[in-house]
Amino acid sequence: MGVEFNPYDFVQADADPYPVYARLREEAPLYRSEELDFWALSRHADVVSAFRDATRFSSANGPLLEQRAWGPQARKAMSFIAMDPPEHTRMRRLVSRAFTPRRIAELETGIRAIARRHLEAALERGEFDLVTDIAAPLPTDVISELVGVPEADRPELRRLADAALHREPGTQEISQEGATALLELVGHFAEIVADRHRHRRDDLASALLDAAVDESSLTDEEIIAFLHLLVGAGNETTANLLGNAVYWAWRHPDQRAKAFDGRVAGWVEETLRYDTPAPTQLRTLTEDVELHGTRLTAGSRIMLLPGAANRDPRVFERAEEYDLDRDTAEMASFGSGPHFCLGAALARLEARIVLEEIVDRVADYDLNPSAGRRRQSIHIRGFASLPMTVTAP
Ligand code: HEM
Repeated sequence: MGVEFNPYDFVQADADPYPVYARLREEAPLYRSEELDFWALSRHADVVSAFRDATRFSSANGPLLEQRAWGPQARKAMSFIAMDPPEHTRMRRLVSRAFTPRRIAELETGIRAIARRHLEAALERGEFDLVTDIAAPLPTDVISELVGVPEADRPELRRLADAALHREPGTQEISQEGATALLELVGHFAEIVADRHRHRRDDLASALLDAAVDESSLTDEEIIAFLHLLVGAGNETTANLLGNAVYWAWRHPDQRAKAFDGRVAGWVEETLRYDTPAPTQLRTLTEDVELHGTRLTAGSRIMLLPGAANRDPRVFERAEEYDLDRDTAEMASFGSGPHFCLGAALARLEARIVLEEIVDRVADYDLNPSAGRRRQSIHIRGFASLPMTVTAP
């Protein structure tokens, strides 16, 4: 029987999608899902060239397959990740004026303080949940710090961000509660932007108001949509990268020994390659395109599978092995071309700091994944809950 790929199939897509990815790459490099009306590309060369070809592989309907997220309205909630050049270029240039490498690097001390606070509280309890106690709250707090959300409002922002991303079991659509939380979240950002109009501070919200390129600057609406994109793109991805890193090192004691021996950067990079938290991105064809001998018509939806590309043996030797020492330069986890992840440096910094703090404070750890829970989402791969115990040094 031919290979069947359904990203909504929990067992196939969430528990372990890699056997299906391998079959897609070998047996159906251009896969067709009639039921969900998309084509899928899984080979590294195909995924990367589609990412780079924004003229034919458009983001104008957004990068998500979910029914309510897909379509020309996507940009309202998802800002420039759902735009093509030249509109995308303008927005990204403006935002990059504020979201600078210097601003990210300056966050290091703040991120370490946040990581220590969550980790110390967890260690004091002895038994804790890596995801709900540390990995999930941390990126939300970091984005709050970056954007300039007042300390007192941060727990509320975390609650709203969580609720906005919540999906009822068995459905991929946003719940009513989620939709309300989303509106409240946007309201918070609108208040911050209104406040910064009156008093600028040393934060991203103020820097976005000041950003200008060739007479053009960002409108309040554009800033609010971008802040919303940061919450959507920057929280769950980073949280799941941390969960996946701790999980895979637990499954491979020899690699965990390397991590505890100081190879934390390799731990982050190899986890990104081996089990990326963002395994699927959608595109829409702007013109007819021939792929693997089949002519696809303009308007076709193409699912790119960086999660499959990252294990393509044409690019990575022993691709199915988790190895902290390998060269991961070709990984497709942050995309490629014009939409290359704006937060890649921040995600790497957050993951490195948390893992360094764990390595510094504990001799070893144990996990109980069967008491935990995988996330049910076609866009995000990782754990919603992962109970952990540690051995003191
Ligand atoms: C491990 C963590 C992360 C992964 C795996 C990841 C992955 C990605 C991928 C694959 C894309 C490209 C989407 C596309 O081509 O359609 C992307 C774009 C983006 N990411 Fe990330 N991301 C991560 C963390 C973050 C963080 C921490 C932030 C910000 C705080 C962030 C902000 C963004 C933004 C703003 C875009 C849109 C860029 C554009 O359209 O020009 N990401 N990310």
